[in-house]
Amino acid sequence: MTTQYQAHQPDARGHIAYSEVENATWQALIRRQLELLPGHACQAYLDGLERLALPRERIPQLAEVDRVLEAATGWRTAPVPALIPFDTFFELLADRRFPVATFIRTPEEMDYLQEPDIFHELFGHCPMLTHPGFADFTATYGRLGLAASPAERVYLARLYWMTVEFGLVETPQGRRIYGGGILSSPRETRYALSEAPEHHPFDALDALRTPYRIDILQPLYYVLDSLESLQELARRDIMALVHQAMALGLYPPRFPPK
Ligand SMILES: [Fe+2]
Repeated sequence: MTTQYQAHQPDARGHIAYSEVENATWQALIRRQLELLPGHACQAYLDGLERLALPRERIPQLAEVDRVLEAATGWRTAPVPALIPFDTFFELLADRRFPVATFIRTPEEMDYLQEPDIFHELFGHCPMLTHPGFADFTATYGRLGLAASPAERVYLARLYWMTVEFGLVETPQGRRIYGGGILSSPRETRYALSEAPEHHPFDALDALRTPYRIDILQPLYYVLDSLESLQELARRDIMALVHQAMALGLYPPRFPPK
């Protein structure tokens, strides 16, 4: 995979100077997405977002986010280039550091881009990293990925996709979104809870066996019965499930071939 984007290098104090256009892009993205959150995002996400108090008018500095994450769950962010090797990704997660590519999409790509930018990482993922169960699950996932073979990693990636990126959860307020891939996309935020996609109760083995595409709205979402289930999952033998999934093979895709 190639990218037109390049991450910014922080200066000696860890500060990144963003341009006016970049800050304006953040402003537009966060304004648009904040309007959509009520009735869509789960309470744990909303609580985390409130705690983070992300600035509306400029791209946040990572140190600002780190102060909140460290106090909440011992997580931090890690500035990375636009694309990083799998080893680095898993190493960072295992060390409770969430990789953040410090670039923001161009105004031409406001609605869709395949590369995760700083808006996706900070707005989409960091609120949930203040939730202890979610934070533990993500670190466990990193440790498992680090030790896994390339073939096992392909299966693990599906579990990540169906939870951290595109997960739904039942809450006392109703069915809500916790996946950062959905919550950083206005179109998918509306679509995910609509009648259009399928919703299945979350089952880790099913999630491991479900093929996905990164360039379409998801045809199927898995719904956790509560966020605590992620913590329980982190305590289970996930690699045994991976091996079971490998033996059983993938489900037929619910989307046309690319
Ligand atoms: Fe992501």
